[in-house]
Amino acid sequence: MKTILWATLSANGNYAQSSPENPPKKEALEDFITHAKAAGNFIVGRKTFEGMLASGGGGEDFANLDIVVISRSNKEIPGATIVSSPQEALQFLNEKGHHTALLSGGADLHNSFLTENLVDEIVLNIAPVLEGKGLNLLINKSKYTFKPIELLNVKSLGNGVVHLHYKV
Ligand SMILES: NC(=O)c1ccc[n+]([C@@H]2O[C@H](COP(=O)([O-])OP(=O)(O)OC[C@H]3O[C@@H](n4cnc5c(N)ncnc54)[C@H](OP(=O)(O)O)[C@@H]3O)[C@@H](O)[C@H]2O)c1
Repeated sequence: MKTILWATLSANGNYAQSSPENPPKKEALEDFITHAKAAGNFIVGRKTFEGMLASGGGGEDFANLDIVVISRSNKEIPGATIVSSPQEALQFLNEKGHHTALLSGGADLHNSFLTENLVDEIVLNIAPVLEGKGLNLLINKSKYTFKPIELLNVKSLGNGVVHLHYKV
């Protein structure tokens, strides 16, 4: 099972956050939907999925996708499968015959996969926005470490959004 971490970063390198006043860029959202449809699924943190539902959900775009929500509280969410760990999410998708798992965020979920070495590829869309104190993608939450990765592709998505694709 190949895992692809998909995320948007701000131009100053933060893990971009969105809100009704600061919605995600259309180009980044379209790129997410393209990747989710190609994978046939996405794995998402409970807080991000609740945010998606509050903003109207993906409608038709999410209709045929396996949506896996990771939550320690394990409460039911209509339209999604709830699991309690990254490993359980990957096992579920593997058993359903998926070859790729798309990791759609948020930061807590992405950093869980990164710190457990469960990420094979990374897709980053750099949005033309600067942020103040915020979130980060981290391979180690407690100390400085580094890991070189390989750049596979760069392209412009338009409207100032730059798309980077890496192999870990
Ligand atoms: N830049 C991007 O591409 C991007 C993408 C998505 C979201 N976002 C932003 O990210 C922010 C939300 O991220 P977040 O970090 O606060 O929340 P999140 O990762 O969406 O959700 C966190 C919750 O997911 C569950 N979870 C995460 N890792 C887990 C693990 N290893 N095991 C079990 N459960 C786990 C827990 O749920 P329970 O509390 O239920 O146990 C945890 O409280 C928002 O600001 C949103 O705008 C950005």
